Amino acid sequence: MQAGSSAPCKTWLIGFFCAVCITCLFGVVALPPLRVIQIQSQSVYPPLRRTILWNFTLAQPADGAAAATDELPSAPEKMEQPTENENITEDARIMHLYNSWSTLLNTDKDGVLKSSDGVFKSSNVPRPPHLEDCRTNAERNELFDSYGDNSTFPPWTLWKGSLGLEFLSHKYSEHADQHRQHPPWIVGSDEENYPLTRQVQRDIWTHQHPRNCSDPSLRFLVADWERLPGFGIGAQIAGMSGLFAIAMKEKRILVTNHYNRADHKGCKGASRSSWSCYFFPETSPDCRNRAFELMQSKASWADGTVKVKGNYTSKEIWLGRIPRVWGKPWKYLQPTTEINGKLITNHRKMDRRWWVAQATRYLMRFPTDYMCGLLNVARHSAFGLQAAKLVLQSIQDDSPKVGTTRTRSDIERLVWSDHKPYIPRPLLSMHVRMGDKACEMAVVGFEEYMELAGNLRKQFPGLKNIWLSTEMQEVVDKTKLYPHWSFYFTSVARQGSNMTMAMYEASLGRETSTNYPLVNFMMATEADFFIGALGSTWCYLIDGMRNTGGKVMSGYLSVNKDRFWSISFDLVSTKS
Ligand SMILES: *[C@@H]1O[C@H](CO)[C@@H](O)[C@H](O)[C@H]1NC(C)=O
Ligand SMILES: *[C@@H]1O[C@H](CO)[C@@H](O)[C@H](O)[C@H]1NC(C)=O
Ligand SMILES: *[C@@H]1O[C@H](CO)[C@@H](O)[C@H](O)[C@H]1NC(C)=O
Ligand SMILES: *[C@@H]1O[C@H](CO)[C@@H](O)[C@H](O)[C@H]1NC(C)=O
Ligand SMILES: *[C@@H]1O[C@H](CO)[C@@H](O)[C@H](O)[C@H]1NC(C)=O
Ligand SMILES: *[C@@H]1O[C@H](CO)[C@@H](O)[C@H](O)[C@H]1NC(C)=O
Repeated sequence: MQAGSSAPCKTWLIGFFCAVCITCLFGVVALPPLRVIQIQSQSVYPPLRRTILWNFTLAQPADGAAAATDELPSAPEKMEQPTENENITEDARIMHLYNSWSTLLNTDKDGVLKSSDGVFKSSNVPRPPHLEDCRTNAERNELFDSYGDNSTFPPWTLWKGSLGLEFLSHKYSEHADQHRQHPPWIVGSDEENYPLTRQVQRDIWTHQHPRNCSDPSLRFLVADWERLPGFGIGAQIAGMSGLFAIAMKEKRILVTNHYNRADHKGCKGASRSSWSCYFFPETSPDCRNRAFELMQSKASWADGTVKVKGNYTSKEIWLGRIPRVWGKPWKYLQPTTEINGKLITNHRKMDRRWWVAQATRYLMRFPTDYMCGLLNVARHSAFGLQAAKLVLQSIQDDSPKVGTTRTRSDIERLVWSDHKPYIPRPLLSMHVRMGDKACEMAVVGFEEYMELAGNLRKQFPGLKNIWLSTEMQEVVDKTKLYPHWSFYFTSVARQGSNMTMAMYEASLGRETSTNYPLVNFMMATEADFFIGALGSTWCYLIDGMRNTGGKVMSGYLSVNKDRFWSISFDLVSTKS
């Protein structure tokens, strides 16, 4: 697509670019240090919460991580134990624990939560249930994502997390082949995911990870991420999914190259300007190197061993056929999407919906240490005080000592190793975009989102927490009208009514404008329920992640009044 126009909505590209615009709207909502504010009507500790939110920077400030460390108040290494002589209010204890966790999250020169070792192993501080041990997780995922010694298949098993690894090494290695059916990044049963998700994910992984990358029969597709200014994160991912489809059809290994959104100081070393800053790379380092080596050779270009994005037309990329190696599983796909009160069971482009979901899931199969750290910061900021309260209560009930050195039992280490970090469930994630006037045909008001939320709550009365992602100040202001819900959202400079998306994005800076939407994206994927506008690419991708993340049966509520559903994909096809 060789379009560079910044006012694209007039051309034949209208649909496509609307998707792009909408996407950037969503994809580009961004926030500075990832702080999350909770507005709650019956807040338990309102004054404390305020103080902390405004006085505690959880992520690195714009000037760099080192600066962050310097500026942070030096907090006690250990949690002080309240002595019997002191009267310490419960609030103070909660704050204290929260602050200790914050300190551990911050005392780290290289990146977020490097000191997770400190949090998780050292021990005078009780374990933070809402934080992940990012480094340990990344190490484990490395094992799942590469061949072992003697090029044995990665230790995928029927058992999750460390449990599988431990058992495999003891007893099950001789049956290892049977376990290849279980890509460890797929959760939920087959019934809770799109058809063939497990098999497709395994096949894509195997395709992308040949045992010997020097094999002369291998061919490659090396593709930069789209970087036209109008492209939001969502459109970039959708474009890459198209290239991925081409790679699968032509039996090429997809190698993603320059990723403009990762071109910031948070992405260190080789991960700079690369997808691998946020998620595990799509192929092995060997194959990447091989592809770049081949790109140096004229012969490889000539005989087509290596191709680049420029070798394909935008039509092939955006509208190409979906790989048929798995037949047509979309034929029996059963969407669980409600629009305007109706379950939409059949629509055009089901094949694309299915494939984009698979490609996105694969590309995002394992978050990196960095991404995991961003999520920790966001969760800590949003749910840290609640977690501290819960932990202190549990300790009080149990034993008077706050955090004693202890070793983790086997059940914690193995069986519970794969549990997701604490968030106040059930959690509803809501992505509210009031609409880019130029692109959207109708603007859906926050009231309609809340109406859908109300419907959900009638069915699930335990629901009261909403993770709200929006870039509109207007929406944030309106949350006050709903005192019976607890809203959580990131604190970010919000868009006023007269600002264009591009200006808004530029005002946030690249790091923030990438990190923030990705954090919201992952939260939306993890949340129990989701409400969004499916006509937008961003929400479309969230839908795909949920439907390959064990969430088919939670359904998906879409506000889409007056908008033809999936406008992005339909208009493209009719206009091209
Ligand atoms: C932030 O903390 C400092 C002391 O560390 C205090 O002097 C200042 O008043 C606090 N600011 C706010 C907004 O609470
Ligand atoms: C501590 O608590 C006790 C009773 O709980 C009270 O009598 C005493 O005055 C308190 N001391 C301080 C310093 O608040
Ligand atoms: C790898 O192969 C060698 C020789 O075939 C064998 O001695 C060794 O135990 C194997 N290692 C593993 C981890 O299977
Ligand atoms: C990989 O393939 C190349 C070319 O066929 C061969 O020279 C090399 O020995 C192979 N490496 C391994 C580990 O099998
Ligand atoms: C792919 O594009 C490059 C230029 O970007 C060209 O040199 C090469 O011949 C093309 N390959 C094929 C197989 O058309
Ligand atoms: C938006 O409005 C504010 C004040 O309402 C004004 O200062 C600013 O220049 C406006 N921006 C644009 C792009 O019109």
